[in-house]
Amino acid sequence: MASRTPLMAGNWKMNLDHLQATQLVQKLDWTLKDAEHDYGAVEVAILPPFTDLRTVQTLVEGDKLSLVYGAQDLSPKDEGAYTGDISGAFLAKLGCTYVTIGHSERREGHGETDELLNEKIQAAYRHGLTPILCCGEALEIRKEGRQVDHVLGQIEADLAGIPVEQVRTIVIAYEPIWAIGTGEVATPEDAQEVCGAIRGKLAELYDEATAAGIRILYGGSVKSSNVSEIMGKPDVDGALVGGASLKADEFAKICGFETA
Ligand code: PGA
Repeated sequence: MASRTPLMAGNWKMNLDHLQATQLVQKLDWTLKDAEHDYGAVEVAILPPFTDLRTVQTLVEGDKLSLVYGAQDLSPKDEGAYTGDISGAFLAKLGCTYVTIGHSERREGHGETDELLNEKIQAAYRHGLTPILCCGEALEIRKEGRQVDHVLGQIEADLAGIPVEQVRTIVIAYEPIWAIGTGEVATPEDAQEVCGAIRGKLAELYDEATAAGIRILYGGSVKSSNVSEIMGKPDVDGALVGGASLKADEFAKICGFETA
């Protein structure tokens, strides 16, 4: 049984300017220090808007903070005439560890296809960034009971041609769309059903050992009051947290889920 370090990642979405980011990062750091958070036992990441990243880098490097950070998206291209896009090379220069790819708000709101996401995953690896690849089904798909097939189809298409040496480090976030920002969290059993199936798919696409080492997160209305139960499931290795990551106390409690 591979040991997977749990990851709690705060997806800030389009919230907090760079001044507000400073306040939240400092407060989160103090709160976690007060709680004697063991970063080796539970990794803590934040995913702020692009415009906050330089500020976050300065804080993390200047004050030697233990949390890591990343971006919410990247361009599939490295440089050139792509107005408004952000290169993975720039994110790497800003010290990003992670980059979120294929969040449902981008798949749906920006028409991002699995082919595009596959290119973005390749771009992330070209620049030494670790993708947090998001997947998940809409409510109507769940009502039809097709959530597993749907998500496995996304995973297979998004990872097409990604070699095993790269995929070993990927993080996958299962986020049922009907649970995002709705307060309607999936049951631990719902989360386990799909996260377990994702691991099975990874074993089929690659091998058992690779699948056993990949972290699979659950996301969708995660709070300090429901995180422990979800984390109790064998194939859930962390959480991608939206709304609750904007409050230092609440996010710190989520990071300390083992003691909650
Ligand atoms: P939520 O968002 O925690 O606010 O539901 C999760 C996400 O979209 O990553």
